[in-house]
Amino acid sequence: MRIIVTDNYGEMSQAAARTVARQILAKQDSVLGLPTGNTPIGMYGQLIKLCSHGLISFSKVVTFNLDEYRGLSSDHPGSFYQYMRENLFDQVDIREENIHILDGIAPDTEGECRQYEEEIRRHGGIDLQVLGIGLNGHIGFNEPGSNWGSKTRLVNLSAETRRRESRNFRDPGEIPTQAITMGIRTIMRAKRILLLASGQEKAPAAKQALRGPVTEKAPASVLQLHPAVTVILDKEASSLIKPEDIHELSTMGRSD
Ligand code: PGA
Repeated sequence: MRIIVTDNYGEMSQAAARTVARQILAKQDSVLGLPTGNTPIGMYGQLIKLCSHGLISFSKVVTFNLDEYRGLSSDHPGSFYQYMRENLFDQVDIREENIHILDGIAPDTEGECRQYEEEIRRHGGIDLQVLGIGLNGHIGFNEPGSNWGSKTRLVNLSAETRRRESRNFRDPGEIPTQAITMGIRTIMRAKRILLLASGQEKAPAAKQALRGPVTEKAPASVLQLHPAVTVILDKEASSLIKPEDIHELSTMGRSD
């Protein structure tokens, strides 16, 4: 596990975008696993910039999103589908048929989950999976206690997660109680993983994930077992991690 610390959110986003860009440049038809949430918004902005400058192209890239709220259709403004359209897909040259996001209103949820796993397999697996981390250490919507053997499935959202998700909904009655998420096993099968965290509030979760015991109580701690993980934290998120555990201090300047 390689831990990189940047000065601030902007630099974390740039470093993350460069990692994704290198992946795409090395393999044009890369299969990317993508997260939603506040954390990756800056990274997506940087990727849009790199694409508009012609440095990278998404024309052959295939994407699989980590999760989607159960009960929200893809045209619901709070859906992760809409988030992805707004924050990335509408602004890069990705092909519609290469975008995969779980259908929050699929009548046969189990079938939807099975098919998602099958599609990932059919595309040769995920080359690079980007992840954020929840305050409670979740990855995707794999809440504490998620089984390490878990595949894509329907899950209940914890009270803490629902409180946090409330920022995406005007009416509290609309906050979903369930989601469909890639499982821990699905995530761990990715060839490479990039974990991002920003801000003081993520410092305890980051410490627990990177240096705490490897336990199902802290879902992100499973990443300690993966052979190819890069972690990019900003200074605040890294504040509880010992300096000797940090492999690279990145100071990039603010030019872009
Ligand atoms: P955030 O969410 O990026 O909005 O903090 C991360 C997560 O819950 O996985």
